[in-house]
Amino acid sequence: MLRLARFLLIPALLIAGVLLAIAATSQPAQQPAVLAALGDQPLVIAHRGGKGLWPENSLFAFERAHALGVDMLEMDLHLSSDGELVVIHDQTLERTTNGQGNVAAFSLDQLQALDAGYQWTADGGQSYPYRGQGIAIPSFVEVLERLPSAAKVIEIKVPDAGMEARLCDALEQHDQLERVIVGSFYERSLQTFREQCPGVATSAGPGSVRLLVALNWLGLGGLLSPSYQALQIPQRHSGLQVASARLMRVAQERGLAVQLWTINEQPRMRRLLDQGAQGLITDYPDRALQLLGRSTRIGALEQ
Ligand code: G3P
Ligand code: CA
Repeated sequence: MLRLARFLLIPALLIAGVLLAIAATSQPAQQPAVLAALGDQPLVIAHRGGKGLWPENSLFAFERAHALGVDMLEMDLHLSSDGELVVIHDQTLERTTNGQGNVAAFSLDQLQALDAGYQWTADGGQSYPYRGQGIAIPSFVEVLERLPSAAKVIEIKVPDAGMEARLCDALEQHDQLERVIVGSFYERSLQTFREQCPGVATSAGPGSVRLLVALNWLGLGGLLSPSYQALQIPQRHSGLQVASARLMRVAQERGLAVQLWTINEQPRMRRLLDQGAQGLITDYPDRALQLLGRSTRIGALEQ
């Protein structure tokens, strides 16, 4: 028994030494300019522009969510067949438009001829109030030009298609490098974007989220030196809790902004804010604003 203890002692001491060294040199994330400009209040982030209120990922939605007073607009990027960044969530057109097929098979002009308000309904399909109202799939550049002052959460939906460099160029050309957080469910896409667009804030990819959850579970969250600035996570994933109060606390100690998706009910919003969430990514930004005691009146649209 004594020999076994001696046998285990040296590796245990070595591991403890390595962990202490990592902990001593680990660096928390620095708050990015986009979040510093928004202050310390809990952030209301309009998911796809607030898809519960109006047709998702449309200029119509973004302009109204911005006029409503949300802190950030969340949007999804795909690439058209002629290489333009377009703002749409799905790989295919059917769910949100009157078109059919893959987004990537159509040019920007062809995509913009579709009705992006066609499928939106608030009453389970009894009425479609935005059909034929001229709501189109926006190009990303249109969003940048129409809403230059809005802070944005931008999700790269397609890896390995060269979107990262195009996104970086567009942000640079429109002087919005410091107005965005870029995320993706593709870790390699995020890695590429960070290399090509250094200094722009990003959120954790799925691998990074898993690492943080594992470190937190082992009580080793202090070892983390994040290469990202925001943690945008669901409350639960595959039946397991992701956003525990402890995870959110550890993430904040590592300098990360913790933003939860997709939170649509006020009791849940309240609970998560009480547990430490710093941002709510929601289809109903009006509900979050109301909960926070902020105005829910739509102000003037930017010209
Ligand atoms: O930030 C991630 C959030 O947008 C959830 O994903 O499927 O709505 O794009 P999704
Ligand atoms: Ca998204």
